[in-house]
Amino acid sequence: MATHGTLELFLAFGFNSVDLATYYVYESNNLTNYIYSTDSTIITNLTWFTTKSLTIFSNGNIDGTTQWVARIVEDHAANCYDPMSSNLGYAYSQQINQTIRATSTGSCTFTIVVSVQLTNGNYHSILDIINVNYKGDSNVRAIMGYQNNDSKLELFEFTEQTAMRWNKIIVYGNLVSFIIPRNGTLKVSYQSASYTPKLSPVFQEYGSGIFMSINYPDGDDVVNELGIELSLTCTMGYASYNITIIYADIPSNTSLQVSNGNIILDEFDQNVTFLSKVYYTDQYLSIQFVDSPSYIDQRFWDGFLIRYEAVHMEKPTTKSTNFVWLIILCSVIVFILMIAAIVYLIYRMKHREKYFEQLYDTLKDMHLSKDDIEALRTKSDEFLIDEKLLHIYFNNPLGQGSTSSVYKGHLEGTSPLHRVMKSIGTQCFVDCDVAVKVPGNFGQNEVQNLFQEIKAIKKIEYHNNV
Ligand SMILES: *[C@@H]1O[C@H](CO)[C@@H](O)[C@H](O)[C@H]1NC(C)=O
Ligand SMILES: *[C@@H]1O[C@H](CO)[C@@H](O)[C@H](O)[C@H]1NC(C)=O
Ligand SMILES: *[C@@H]1O[C@H](CO)[C@@H](O)[C@H](O)[C@H]1NC(C)=O
Ligand SMILES: *[C@@H]1O[C@H](CO)[C@@H](O)[C@H](O)[C@H]1NC(C)=O
Ligand SMILES: *[C@@H]1O[C@H](CO)[C@@H](O)[C@H](O)[C@H]1NC(C)=O
Ligand SMILES: *[C@@H]1O[C@H](CO)[C@@H](O)[C@H](O)[C@H]1NC(C)=O
Ligand SMILES: *[C@@H]1O[C@H](CO)[C@@H](O)[C@H](O)[C@H]1NC(C)=O
Ligand SMILES: *[C@@H]1O[C@H](CO)[C@@H](O)[C@H](O)[C@H]1NC(C)=O
Repeated sequence: MATHGTLELFLAFGFNSVDLATYYVYESNNLTNYIYSTDSTIITNLTWFTTKSLTIFSNGNIDGTTQWVARIVEDHAANCYDPMSSNLGYAYSQQINQTIRATSTGSCTFTIVVSVQLTNGNYHSILDIINVNYKGDSNVRAIMGYQNNDSKLELFEFTEQTAMRWNKIIVYGNLVSFIIPRNGTLKVSYQSASYTPKLSPVFQEYGSGIFMSINYPDGDDVVNELGIELSLTCTMGYASYNITIIYADIPSNTSLQVSNGNIILDEFDQNVTFLSKVYYTDQYLSIQFVDSPSYIDQRFWDGFLIRYEAVHMEKPTTKSTNFVWLIILCSVIVFILMIAAIVYLIYRMKHREKYFEQLYDTLKDMHLSKDDIEALRTKSDEFLIDEKLLHIYFNNPLGQGSTSSVYKGHLEGTSPLHRVMKSIGTQCFVDCDVAVKVPGNFGQNEVQNLFQEIKAIKKIEYHNNV
């Protein structure tokens, strides 16, 4: 009974239905206002009636292979174009192609009713989503049922760009819906499928799909389904596989195994809820329940729903080798630089030592005591003459050699030597004229020569201007 809107009724006959009943449909709950009757020997696709109130009566044995689906159009098909004829699908044995558009007012729900068939002693509805194609913004969601907000019943999602990755999807369920965002247009091809316990999708660049047990999520089967398996093959080679276990009821003495064909990559032996993991394998990945004979018939089993999204990629071993080589190369360069720095430092220290040895000899000649010299060594920087205090008369060369020139200069104030020593021997180095030697270039040889020169000058006593 609909208290608002338009009530629609759909009849979906099952496969292998041996039904002796005739169905009568009345527009009231006291079997008055008869509107329709049918029996299962008439194979139709989908029939719908529109009324306010419906009662179905059967005069015979209903064997459960027939489904009646009712909806209130204004609720279920809100925001869909053409809601009265094209936004409920009926999966039968031949391929159906359907195009559904959402209006600009909101998202539109398109629901497929899947016919029932006898499988493994139970009645199941099995849908094969052959392919989807979508034009529009944001994501289309595929769900079990038609209005669920239970994330455990979310099948998969796609955008305009990723739609073509989703094909040959086997879903076990009577009602499967697509939630199409506003202004979006969905094209979907589908048909009923037979039971396929082993799925073996083969893909090139991308492989996306779901892998579920026939009983999910109802738990109306015992665990004699445990042999089912998903084996994925990437024909282009190496791929990453993002596996999301949406839910898996894993009974004791069984486990869910992820393997690459040779080695087990993962093994789950406890119930799993919402777990995403990425595996990388060469060409092949398999997911299967490992059966334990002692388990069979232990209890009802809630089954599992797993989503996978695989992408072909370059095998990272070569990349990682390159990466390793890069690291080695960097290490070698850093090592060489460190050695060079150490060598340079040692050279500098040696050089400095030599410089002090020569300075030491020079100072010894000036009759300074050992302690004084030691004090000088620690204050060696104080011997630098501030360039502001030294005036060099470059226009007045005193002499010119092959490696250096000597100019006349004037030192303003106290020379550092006298400042430090304060000795009588050095008191002449205050406000005095000096000779300034300017080397053409300056290296170790020049320094050595300079000291030799100073040594020689020392031996012949101070010249007034030196
Ligand atoms: C049967 O139900 C309809 C409304 O559902 C009502 O109008 C009618 O009077 C009922 N008939 C009898 C015999 O009760
Ligand atoms: C359902 O069957 C009728 C004829 O019985 C046919 O005209 C119609 O196109 C069919 N609908 C679908 C969706 O296959
Ligand atoms: C559905 O589309 C496929 C091509 O994608 C075509 O081969 C098939 O005939 C179409 N089926 C119907 C019922 O239009
Ligand atoms: C939907 O389409 C209509 C026109 O067709 C446009 O005016 C509107 O902006 C669109 N809305 C969105 C959300 O894209
Ligand atoms: C699911 O949606 C229904 C209405 O459609 C709402 O009443 C209910 O609270 C929602 N449940 C959750 C868990 O969001
Ligand atoms: C794997 O897929 C899930 C959803 O299906 C997503 O939330 C997650 O980010 C993906 N992980 C990676 C590494 O892509
Ligand atoms: C696993 O889940 C099932 C139902 O889905 C439940 O009966 C069982 O107790 C759970 N097992 C554990 C170990 O929680
Ligand atoms: C699991 O197996 C062991 C022996 O392999 C058995 O003793 C035990 O009863 C089994 N448990 C279940 C729940 O079947």
